[in-house]
Amino acid sequence: MTKVYVWSLFTRLFHILLVIAVGVVFIIAEIENLLSYHAIIGYTIGLLFLFRIIWGFMDVRYSKFKDFNFNIKDLTKYMFSIFGEKKEYTGHNPASSWAIIAMIILGLGSVVSGVIVYGTQEGMGVLSFLNTSLFKDMDLFEDLHELFANAFMAVIFVHIAGVALDKVLHKSDSVGSMIGGYKDGEAKSLELTISQKMFGVLWIGLSIGFTLYLLSTPSNILIADNNRAIDYKVEHKLFYDECISCHTLYPPHLLPKKSWIAMMDNLQNHFGDDASLNEKDTNSIKEYLVKNSSEDSTKEASFKILKSMEGNATLAITETPYWKKRHKEIDKNLFKLKKVGNISNCKACHKNIEQGLLNDKDIKIPQG
Ligand code: HEC
Ligand code: HEC
Repeated sequence: MTKVYVWSLFTRLFHILLVIAVGVVFIIAEIENLLSYHAIIGYTIGLLFLFRIIWGFMDVRYSKFKDFNFNIKDLTKYMFSIFGEKKEYTGHNPASSWAIIAMIILGLGSVVSGVIVYGTQEGMGVLSFLNTSLFKDMDLFEDLHELFANAFMAVIFVHIAGVALDKVLHKSDSVGSMIGGYKDGEAKSLELTISQKMFGVLWIGLSIGFTLYLLSTPSNILIADNNRAIDYKVEHKLFYDECISCHTLYPPHLLPKKSWIAMMDNLQNHFGDDASLNEKDTNSIKEYLVKNSSEDSTKEASFKILKSMEGNATLAITETPYWKKRHKEIDKNLFKLKKVGNISNCKACHKNIEQGLLNDKDIKIPQG
């Protein structure tokens, strides 16, 4: 048997870059303070899939969509023959043809929904302007993003299982061909034209270059943090001076009006301390807190704390269900560290909470 050149350098580069990018994006998805990197690699995945789509419409033997086999009869036949005498395909077999299309749709769906969540929930990136109008739907977009990502992962899993099974049952070396480019067989080898080569170099180069560019410019419009830092000292000096004297300055948008009113009406008995002020100052701070409460904020923390409170007037942020849920996995010993002291010392881990910022990327866990 002779060797057939089936996967061009660019198809293989696309494949290996995608494997790496998707691996990294999934591994860091749950790590809050790596969110910007998650977003950057998401954009890379988007670019890689765009490459694959255009590549599929270029006249590249075995890689073009025209050479895919979408025939349902062939697919069932192929699936039933996996454990028996399997028909060998030089290019994509019916199962991988379908899998690739599914991966392109689900992968791009993950990227687009991810950009929407990044904007509506975090107030970051190109769609950050959507935060003010669509923040009430942030949970919906997040669910959608997870749905796409999990379905994408499921197809990848089936794809890997299929390749492994093929290797065990039929000793076929699809992994080797996706790395080296060659398969055993008698079919015709692919040949790239000059313009296809140029397109490949340009787009794969662009995907890598663009990733490096985003990594080096955190203020780039695609990943930029558009949450404005608030100078509470300028906004309301009295609130700042009084409410930072014993603890972290808690941003007003972290509690609803009801809670602030109840707290300000009982300052002489404030969590066991007497924090009372004269009536004028009390009313001035109360008014400021009420005007800037969770109800009037579109931030993720405000929206989710408020929703979790279900109309209760809990006084402590740390007693709200959302706060508890987000901190339940934190090692309790951390709160005992000298640097932290107690759970209410937010700024030990949220470095710019006193500027009203609670971004995932700014979470920093102190080390013992
Ligand atoms: C005399 C000291 C003192 C002053 C002044 C003070 N507080 Fe407190 N506050 C406390 C103590 C003590 C707690 C309990 C948590 C802790 O130990 O930090 C607390 C807790 C809180 C909490 C709940 C924190 C949590 O765990 O979720 C909020 C909200 C709060 N204070 C708001 C205010 C505001 C608003 C002002 C300004 C009007 C203010 N505090 C002024 C002593 C003070
Ligand atoms: C010992 C460190 C630590 C302390 C202290 C702490 N947090 Fe956190 N906080 C975290 C970590 C870690 C996360 C991310 C948890 C996760 O993975 O979901 C988080 C998540 C959050 C979130 C969700 C993030 C978001 O974008 O909505 C909010 C809101 C929050 N913290 C508010 C507070 C407030 C308010 C305080 C003080 C009353 C506080 N935290 C104290 C470590 C801390």
